[in-house]
Amino acid sequence: MSSAPTDSSARGVTPETDWAVLEGWDRAYYLHAVQAQAEFAYLPIERTDGNYLVLPDGSRLLDFQSQLISDSMGHRHPRVHAEIVRAMERYGHVFFGLATDYRARAAKLVIEDALAGEEWAGRVRILASGSEAVENSLAMARHFTGRPVILTQEHSYHGLTMGTTRLRGYRGQLSPVDDARASRDIPGFPGGGIVEIPAPEFHDYEGPRPLPSLEQTRAIIEDVGPERIAGVITEAMFGAAGLLPPDDYLVGLRELSREYDFLWIAVEVLTGFGRLGEWFGYQCYPGIEPDLMVIGKGLNGCALPCGAVVTRKDIGEWFERARWWSGSTHDAHPLVCASIVGNIEAMLADDVIGTVKRLGAYLERNLRAMTARHACVGRVSGKGMYYAVDLVGDDGRPIVPDDRSTLFLGELSNHPNNVIAQECAARGVFLGGFVPNTIKVAPPFTISEAEIDVGLDVFDSALTELAGRATRG
Ligand SMILES: Cc1ncc(COP(=O)(O)O)c(C=O)c1O
Repeated sequence: MSSAPTDSSARGVTPETDWAVLEGWDRAYYLHAVQAQAEFAYLPIERTDGNYLVLPDGSRLLDFQSQLISDSMGHRHPRVHAEIVRAMERYGHVFFGLATDYRARAAKLVIEDALAGEEWAGRVRILASGSEAVENSLAMARHFTGRPVILTQEHSYHGLTMGTTRLRGYRGQLSPVDDARASRDIPGFPGGGIVEIPAPEFHDYEGPRPLPSLEQTRAIIEDVGPERIAGVITEAMFGAAGLLPPDDYLVGLRELSREYDFLWIAVEVLTGFGRLGEWFGYQCYPGIEPDLMVIGKGLNGCALPCGAVVTRKDIGEWFERARWWSGSTHDAHPLVCASIVGNIEAMLADDVIGTVKRLGAYLERNLRAMTARHACVGRVSGKGMYYAVDLVGDDGRPIVPDDRSTLFLGELSNHPNNVIAQECAARGVFLGGFVPNTIKVAPPFTISEAEIDVGLDVFDSALTELAGRATRG
């Protein structure tokens, strides 16, 4: 975005903007999550620009993590930006009962272009966030199968909402069109119906086959009773936990879902739209395709809040022949749909998947070479433009023993992920992690090789500092 004005007054930030006052308001009136009010670290961003977050003093942070592995096309990508501006000339809000050109174009781009050649995909429903899309997929799987139980992987992350359909009112019920007088609650409503299966092994697991995680999953399926299971929900590479399964894991899990006849809900909120080097993460593995796929983040690079569910052809048709009381004021908002159009068209025009393959190979090669020099790096795993770096102590074990099972208790500032984040930020790079021992390198696809070098140099220094702190006790 080199054409963006650099003079702060032209950007609508007056020279008098007093960030100390703003910090006061933010601390006083905004309800922060994740950090408690007293420990809230205030890091103001005055604007976002290409691959950078710009601070009020004009200093810049290279975004080496695409914020939440979300802003895949950099910040304010010109094509996405332009499409939103164009849409705003004609549209504010248009609710889902009416139609817009942008909704049709976005749906066509997802099903016909991003999913080109994937015969399974039938319809897409566009929603306001990944979490909402996940919730929708659970209701769809339960309604379609008539069963209550969803299997979910240990250590996975699918959002933090509570299941709003449990709060009564209209409750997501469905009337099949051949019996419009009938009303069926979502199977399992309002109970839990969520059963955990073990996390997969790590990508470098070389032990016996079948994978123990899949053997245990089979035992759980038998125990729960397959006739009660609506589906299994998965991540191709875990987002929060930064865990890449062995190559035979998803294929094996898909076989189980076919053998026992329940749905596979592939959540590609984070891995979709190129992150693992293919349009969708499941395409990294041969011969498998989901029944429902949840997308978000990279769908529009987070220019505006959105998520979506893609259905298998017959599942989409099935819902179209029913009266499903499901909808939100913000479904398929025209500006959101415009941002999806701008984003997918840019990805197609610029062969972004090709770029991810090329830049990803460069990133992986140099990341592995750099981390090989650090004894505190126990494992590097990933594909495309997403790599998880697991940090270990002298004994080769996770530095914070709870690792991916952490409940985020006690003093967190000296957790390795936060030490690395602080050290990187001090050197002009935005990079960190979520669980304590794992750093997630996931730059925007618009990054250059020279910028990758900068990010890796800074990460290198931060790792040296982390090791030094451990030695100093
Ligand atoms: C795999 C996965 N599912 C669901 C979500 C929730 O999406 P959102 O944050 O857009 O609500 C996320 C977000 O990180 C995710 O990574």
